Amino acid sequence: MSTPLDGPRNLRIGLPSKGRLSEIASELFEQAGIKFRRQSRGLFAKVSGLPIDLVFLRTDDIPTLCAEGAIDMGITGSDLVEEADAAIDVRMRLGMGKCRLAFCVPEDSDIQSAAQLDQSRIATSFPSVTRRYLAERQAQAHLVSLSGSVEVMIQLGIADAIVDLVETGSTLAANRLRILEEIGSYETVLIQNDRCSDPITADRVVRRLQGVVIARDYSLLEYNVPKLKLAEAEQITPGFNSPTINSLEDDQWCSVRVMVKRRDVIESMERLEELGASAIIVTPISNCRL
Ligand code: PRP
Repeated sequence: MSTPLDGPRNLRIGLPSKGRLSEIASELFEQAGIKFRRQSRGLFAKVSGLPIDLVFLRTDDIPTLCAEGAIDMGITGSDLVEEADAAIDVRMRLGMGKCRLAFCVPEDSDIQSAAQLDQSRIATSFPSVTRRYLAERQAQAHLVSLSGSVEVMIQLGIADAIVDLVETGSTLAANRLRILEEIGSYETVLIQNDRCSDPITADRVVRRLQGVVIARDYSLLEYNVPKLKLAEAEQITPGFNSPTINSLEDDQWCSVRVMVKRRDVIESMERLEELGASAIIVTPISNCRL
C-alpha cells in the first residue's frame, strides 16, 4: 500500500491531529501561506507549492517522534517537550497556549511546599517532570500516572496532591484546589531535530511563521508630533528596531511610523496625546518581515 510519504523525502512536519492545538496550528499555517487540505481524519497532507509533507499526530507524541527522526519539525507544547526529555531544538515560541504546570492541593490543606509531599501520592500526566522536580528537593512520591482528568483524583481518593496544567484557574476553582507551587510556564512551540532532511525549507517555514507570530503581537502606530518633542515620543514608542520618521509640510512637525506591542497601544496613544502628538492612528498587521 502506498502512502503520501512514499517517494522522495520532503520536509516532514508533525501537527496535532485534534483538539484546540490542532485548530491553532492549522490557522497559523494558513495565515503563513503554508496551505494544505486535510481529508477528514486523514493522517497525511501535502503542502501546496512547497516540498513539505504534514503528518497529523497526537500532540504528546510529537516531541518523541521528532527526536527519533520520524518527523523533522513539529508543533507541540513546551510542557510535553520537557516531559518527553526529547533531544530536539525549540526553533520558535509561538506565543500561544500559555499555561503553567503546578502542584495543587485541596484549598483547606495545611501543606505549604512541594518538598512536604515527600512519601505522598501524586496524580499527574507529567510523571517525569514531577519526579525530577521532587528529586531536586530531596523528596520522593508515589506517582499515579494518568492521561487526563487529573483534577478529580484527590476526590476519588487515589491522590493527596496533583500536578496539572493551569491556564485560567477555573478547573482548580471548580474542584476546590489551590496552587501549592509552580513548576514552570509553558506555551506552544515549533520544534526541530538536528537531522532535519531539508534545513533550507525548515528555515523558510520558521521565517513564515515568525511573520505571523510577530504581526499578531504588534500593531502599526502612526502619528504626527512637533519635532521638539520627537525624542520624548521615541522614548514612548521605541519600535521593533527604530521608528520611521518622515517630514511634513510644516517643518516644525514630523510624522512617525512605529511598531508597538498590542498590549501597550492604548497607553502609548494616551501618553503621545499628552505630549502633544496628533493624528494618532493604529493599524493591525496581518504579516510582516522584519
Ligand atoms: C487542562 C488541564 C486542566 C485544565 C486547566 O485539561 O489538565 O485540567 O486544562 O485549564 P483552566 O485552568 O483554564 O481550567 P484539558 O481540558 O486539556 O483536559 P484533560 O483534563 O483531559 O487534560
